[in-house]
Amino acid sequence: MKKTIKDYELSGKKVIIRCDFNVPIQDGIIKDETRIKASLKTIRYARKHNAKVILLSHLGRIKNEEDKTKYTLKPVAQMLSKLLRKKVTFIDQTRGEKLNKAVENMQNKDVILIENTRFEDLNGKKESGNDKELGKYWANLGDIFINDAFGTIHRSHASNLGIASNLPNGIGFLVEEEIKKLNKLIDKPRKPYTIILGGSKVSDKIGVISNLITKADYILIGGGMAFTFLKAAGFNIGSSLCEKEKLDFCKKMLDQYPDKLILPIDVITATEIKENVKTHERFVNEIAEDEIGLDIGPKTLEVFKQYLDDCKTIFWNGPVGYFEIKEFANGTKQLLKIITNTKAYTLVGGGDTARAATNFNYQDKISHISTGGGASLAFLEKSNLPALDIIDEK
Ligand code: 3PG
Repeated sequence: MKKTIKDYELSGKKVIIRCDFNVPIQDGIIKDETRIKASLKTIRYARKHNAKVILLSHLGRIKNEEDKTKYTLKPVAQMLSKLLRKKVTFIDQTRGEKLNKAVENMQNKDVILIENTRFEDLNGKKESGNDKELGKYWANLGDIFINDAFGTIHRSHASNLGIASNLPNGIGFLVEEEIKKLNKLIDKPRKPYTIILGGSKVSDKIGVISNLITKADYILIGGGMAFTFLKAAGFNIGSSLCEKEKLDFCKKMLDQYPDKLILPIDVITATEIKENVKTHERFVNEIAEDEIGLDIGPKTLEVFKQYLDDCKTIFWNGPVGYFEIKEFANGTKQLLKIITNTKAYTLVGGGDTARAATNFNYQDKISHISTGGGASLAFLEKSNLPALDIIDEK
């Protein structure tokens, strides 16, 4: 078992907490606070135990100087101050005198948020490439390192792996909770167990399909990735998305697990991806050459419902349609209704699926919405998780 924040005496110590504040921000306004709220338990615990709290996070992917304006963590500091009812001091640099001074002058219970760690990527990918010197520099700011950034455990960054290599460390409550909840899908899940996979690419889901197909009773396939499967099954998919290099994988899976992999029988198509476009309901053998499949159809929903109704465990990753456009949102919306009407343990993973659950107001009816997209898939695939693997065992 991994060490946790509870294994350390925190009073008077400088505790560095790596959070995942990678949240959508538009014109300085935070569009979804879920990840910020999910980090509060660990921050509050550290403050309650008289720690000096130093927060770090990445935000977005930084490729040029202009990205720095768009991806500053300043709005997150303001939101945190509001949620914690305590001023969170924002330091607008990732290293330097100002940061050193601010850390030196901290009192117990104070909270500092350092600027977006990925600003260091403009300087030779120092954050994403886990630059040794940068990891050491950040580690030197504190006494204990707590990794609570579940969404980033599959990354080898200086701000997670780098700091953890240089300090006594542990995980926070969010990471602990995510591991517990995700393990329910791996260790003896209650049966029947159905997985819904959507999103655009088969290539993103190969690991999870290969690993979970033997654990689950059924995998229902929707979203853009369904069309590569449908093509592999011999259908003409018109202008729908197709990953040619994954056709062999899909065909092999369909041959090996014909009763487990359930494909759509009808889809909603259009000739363009835009609002108010004319749509068609098509059986999968009726898709015209110029049509793009953009959602699952009503008959597929009926079929999927039969596989979901009596389930005891349901895992869903990836929307089954282009839900951002109302014409293609019905499949995802109806599936949310179906799964939340079952008695199953329901776990939703992945940024887009979590966003759909929140947009359509089902977030409180789902057993667990993971804060990790790529991270939850990597966890279920049993891939290496460098930022978790480095954490000390008890
Ligand atoms: C996420 O949003 O999945 C995490 O914050 C990781 O972000 P990244 O894919 O940019 O590393």
